[in-house]
Amino acid sequence: MDLTGKVSVVTGAAQGNGFGIARALAGAGSQVILADRNAPRLERAIEELRGSGGDVTPFVCDVTEEDAVKELMRSAHELGGPHVLVSQAGLDYSALIPDTSLEDWNRVMGVDVTATFLCVREAIPYMVDLGGGSIITMSGTYAWVAEPGHALHAAAKGAIMSFTRGIACEWGHKGIRANALNPGWINTPMVSDTFEIRPAEQTDEVVKWHALGRIGEIDEIGNLALFLASDASSFCTGAAFTIDGGQSAGVNSFQKPITVKHE
Ligand SMILES: NC(=O)c1ccc[n+]([C@@H]2O[C@H](COP(=O)([O-])OP(=O)(O)OC[C@H]3O[C@@H](n4cnc5c(N)ncnc54)[C@H](O)[C@@H]3O)[C@@H](O)[C@H]2O)c1
Repeated sequence: MDLTGKVSVVTGAAQGNGFGIARALAGAGSQVILADRNAPRLERAIEELRGSGGDVTPFVCDVTEEDAVKELMRSAHELGGPHVLVSQAGLDYSALIPDTSLEDWNRVMGVDVTATFLCVREAIPYMVDLGGGSIITMSGTYAWVAEPGHALHAAAKGAIMSFTRGIACEWGHKGIRANALNPGWINTPMVSDTFEIRPAEQTDEVVKWHALGRIGEIDEIGNLALFLASDASSFCTGAAFTIDGGQSAGVNSFQKPITVKHE
């Protein structure tokens, strides 16, 4: 799959899934703008990708801020894009519903859902001028399979999935495709931080949920995103792409409630 001549924007790209996606797109020849609010981590990510020949640009911003997102897409436009948008910045959150404050609800929805809306809204006019594009959103298996302590996360991922279908229906006639990534557990800092504060038996339990007997790796997410970004997926739009090692197929899934409150 070749993305030479394309400009991609990846949000939340300083680490984790976003970094894996940026690495895959850059490896296929795309120019990639990595957007993240964590400047030092973003700098390290850029260094690493440039070290392996990637044509990458950092953009420090909070994707919940409307003006910053406008500026981000304007930067992509100045480079000749955006041909590909991967809106995937997100926050971990786990608490039972009665313990979830309105502030927590708005914070998680803001980064997951509102930022996706802003990025997509600002990218569409440029993509229309370019004759099309590929939008990839970050949903999750929580879009259809809930777990105690993750109702807020499930609501956010469900909203992203529905929004993605909306983009596909509204903009397919202009050559814009929109698809969602629906990962299960992936080995990112978000997950390793959670594993650190969980008792060991809970971590073992999570691994057992997966038919493949392991959690996923960021390069596996990157490979799927590359497929969706490229013409290899030219007839895919409005779809959910589950990538979870068989977790949501029902193998040992969701037998125990696990709740961790993040400060
Ligand atoms: N890791 C998993 O198991 C898993 C599973 C399903 C879905 N996801 C989703 O994948 C996405 C990435 O998750 P991850 O595990 O790589 O997380 P992570 O915490 O390791 O990385 C998230 C990145 O997003 C950035 N970010 C957060 N809020 C931001 C904001 N407002 N503006 C700009 N940047 C911001 C962070 O600085 C960080 O670099 C999230 O949407 C998450 O819900 C992850």
